[in-house]
Amino acid sequence: MSTLRPIGVFDSGVGGLTVLKALRRKLPGRDFLYFADTARVPYGRKPREMVQAFAAGITNFLLQHDVGGVVVACNTASAAALPQLAERAPVPVWGVIEPGVEAARRVTRSGRVGVIGTPGAIQSGAYQKRLEALGLQVWAQPCPLFVSIVEEGLSQSYEAELMARHYLAAHPAIDTLILGCTHYPMLAPVIQRVLGSGVTLVESAQVTAEVVGAALPASNGGMAGNIRHFVTGDLLAYQHTAQVIGGVDGEMEWLDVTRL
Ligand code: DGL
Repeated sequence: MSTLRPIGVFDSGVGGLTVLKALRRKLPGRDFLYFADTARVPYGRKPREMVQAFAAGITNFLLQHDVGGVVVACNTASAAALPQLAERAPVPVWGVIEPGVEAARRVTRSGRVGVIGTPGAIQSGAYQKRLEALGLQVWAQPCPLFVSIVEEGLSQSYEAELMARHYLAAHPAIDTLILGCTHYPMLAPVIQRVLGSGVTLVESAQVTAEVVGAALPASNGGMAGNIRHFVTGDLLAYQHTAQVIGGVDGEMEWLDVTRL
């Protein structure tokens, strides 16, 4: 076990595991605490103030467990609760929206970029204003049912493809699509099939890991770090998805969200 403090990572559910996996690759010697609020997923349809309260409660929980930094591995919570979380926390707090914007900036050639996300993330305009400030043309589309499809383990299903066709039907000519929800990388094969090979899909996980990795020491020795998961909803369903994602194994425990 590392003597460095663990890094806290949270999401409404399994989506943030896509970010945790990239963080783990970047910082293999660090310990991580991952908080999956699956009892209250999805956040994307909930009022902004409610998401802010959830994010503050989870951040406090992680701080009580002595984390040395917090990664808000959820676009909806990043849009609703940053920078307030960062101002109040005594440790660095990172979100996933700016990394997603940076990933798109690196990839686009035409300057015509799409972003899909939860209703909360898209309605906040958090992506649109940052992308437009870079001079990019933006098409934004909320995809309300995608998070539930992923949480139900239906990412590769016929239903997922049907929903993707529905949400993406009106897309204009774009060369890059930001998966602006950390659940969506699990739908990437389906989304890619619907859009065709002319559109590059980008996500925030890799750039987030680069930003966090640049700010924190990787390890204090050659030892592999541990992951400890706190899950507020169904533990078995969560374990299954963590297995499908791979590379995020660790001790998992259920947590009563009413005690947060
Ligand atoms: N993974 C979260 C995000 O990135 C999903 C939010 C939700 O629960 O709706 O936005």
